[in-house]
Amino acid sequence: MKRLMEAGRLRLGLLASGRGSNFDAIMAAIVRQDLNATMALVISDNREAAVLQKAALRNVRNCFVDPDKFTNKCEYEAYLVELLQAEGVNLVVLAGYMRLVGEVFLKAYKDRIVNIHPSLLPSFPGLNAQRRALEYGVKYSGCTVHLVDEGMDTGPIIMQSVVPVAQDDDEDSLATRILVQEHKLYWRCLQLIAEGRVWLEGRRVFIR
Ligand code: GRF
Repeated sequence: MKRLMEAGRLRLGLLASGRGSNFDAIMAAIVRQDLNATMALVISDNREAAVLQKAALRNVRNCFVDPDKFTNKCEYEAYLVELLQAEGVNLVVLAGYMRLVGEVFLKAYKDRIVNIHPSLLPSFPGLNAQRRALEYGVKYSGCTVHLVDEGMDTGPIIMQSVVPVAQDDDEDSLATRILVQEHKLYWRCLQLIAEGRVWLEGRRVFIR
């Protein structure tokens, strides 16, 4: 059994492609001092991503990195790692980052990349998870915070929150109900990591 991280203040680097509501929820927890972390850097692969404005509003260093400017994924990721390491980032937080993380990133931040996904994994990995859960007819869905490995939403599960699916739900109403839980779950997981309480054995995560 191995401890994910020793107890101490986290230096977070957050990667996102869009809206940034999870970024905001994490920042709010830092400001309230519920989360022992510094948001060192926000990176987006999308120039228009609202998360960049949200970061600027909170005086968090942020940048757009254009993946098309690189000859391949390895070079793109090597650059991201350089940026993150220059800021002393010790935990990478994916929050609506719409790319699969590749080998360069995984090697540089082994067991130090977390993601949030809007379903109860391993059900409905990948895109449009809320719509697919609804169409499948599940009675409960939710969100999952997990460590990132080379697969699509396949890494070890840290914590999950469950929400009921209502008969009159549409994709938006279900996504909204799940998002409320995302905003409560993500910073709590990060805080457990900051407290040195998260342990890993194979695929199983233990909170001690
Ligand atoms: C969230 O639903 C998250 O679970 C998924 O992407 C969405 C990001 O939303 N990975 P936001 O950008 O944090 O508002």
